[in-house]
Amino acid sequence: MHTITAIAHPNIALIKYWGKRDTVRNLPATHSLSITLNTLETHTCVNFSAELSADQVYLNKALADDAFSARVGACLDGFRTLAGVHTFASVHTSNNFPTAAGLASSASGFAALLTAANAALESPLNLRQLAILAREASGSAGRSLFGGYVIQHRGQHSDGSDSYAEALFPAKHWPLEVVIAITSEKEKNIGSTEGMLHTAATAPYWRAWVDRSAADIQAATAAIKQRDFAALAEVAEASCLAMHALMQSARPGLLYWNAATIELIHKIRQLRATGLAVFFTIDAGPQVKAVCLPEAADKVEAALKAVPGVLRTLRCLLGAGARISNDANTE
Ligand code: DP6
Repeated sequence: MHTITAIAHPNIALIKYWGKRDTVRNLPATHSLSITLNTLETHTCVNFSAELSADQVYLNKALADDAFSARVGACLDGFRTLAGVHTFASVHTSNNFPTAAGLASSASGFAALLTAANAALESPLNLRQLAILAREASGSAGRSLFGGYVIQHRGQHSDGSDSYAEALFPAKHWPLEVVIAITSEKEKNIGSTEGMLHTAATAPYWRAWVDRSAADIQAATAAIKQRDFAALAEVAEASCLAMHALMQSARPGLLYWNAATIELIHKIRQLRATGLAVFFTIDAGPQVKAVCLPEAADKVEAALKAVPGVLRTLRCLLGAGARISNDANTE
C-alpha cells in the first residue's frame, strides 16, 4: 500500500441536478450534464495504514470538522466494502479555490479521494464502480471523474446501479472557456443537500422541474454535438434559471444570489445581444460562471470585472478527469 496523491477538478453543470429520488442511496431526481474545468484543483493524498484505528481527515492543512470527516469516512467505507479491505486511511485534501462557495469543491474532493484510494490499493475497482461511489457521496461528484463534457444518468433502478456519470465528449471536441466572477468568498448558508430536501418537500414546481430534465439533456447533448453555441446557451440558461426559480418557490424560498449575481446575469445577456458568444450558469452560491467561446473570453472577463460587487475573476478551460498526480495527461 502506498501513499498516492490524486488531482481532480470541479465541474459545473449546464443542465442542473437539484433534488433526489432516494436520499439514502443519494439517487438524483434528474439527469445532469456538466463540463469539467481545469485551473481549479483539489489535491487529495490517501495513505491506508494498519496503524490507524480510524480515518484521519485534513482539509486545507487543518484537521477537518466532524461533518466533513464523517462524509469522507462514509465514502471510504463504501470503497472499503467493495474493495474488500478493512484498513483505515489518513486523507489530506486541499483546494486552490474557495471551499463550499458554489464552486463544487465536494465534487472534485470526492473524485480525487476515490481516485487516490483506488490507486493506493492498486485499482481494485473499475471506473463505473468509482462513479457510483462518487455519486453516493455527492450527486455531482461522479462527473468530476471525467474530463470534458460529462453526463450523470438519473437511472431507474432502486439500487442505483444505473445512476452513474460517464464521459459524453472529450474537451477537444469543443474547447469552450469559462470566466468565473467571484462575488463572495463566504461559505454558503444552506448546503446543497439540505437545500434539495427542502425544495423537494415544499416547492410547488417540483414535478415540472423533474419532468423537464430529459428533454433538456437531449437538447444540450445535440447542441454540444453540433457545436451550436446559441442552442446550448438557450437550454443551459433555461435549466439554471428554472433551478433557481424552483429553489425560490420553496417555503421559505432559497435565494443564493446577491446583488452582483443579478447584475452579472444582465451584463452577460447584454454581451450576447452585442454578438459575443457567452451564456451564464449559477449553482448554489452567488458566483456567476460565464461560459464562452475562447475568442470572446478576454472581452467577457473585462466586462465582468467592471460589474460592481465582482471581487475577482478566474479563467478556466475545459479540463481532464481525476487522475493520480504523476499522470497529469490522462483524460
Ligand atoms: C447546484 O452534488 O453538492 O451544483 O448530492 O447533496 O452532495 P449532494 O449535492 P451536490 O449538488 C450540486 C447542485 C448544483 C447543480 C449541479 O452541480 O448539478
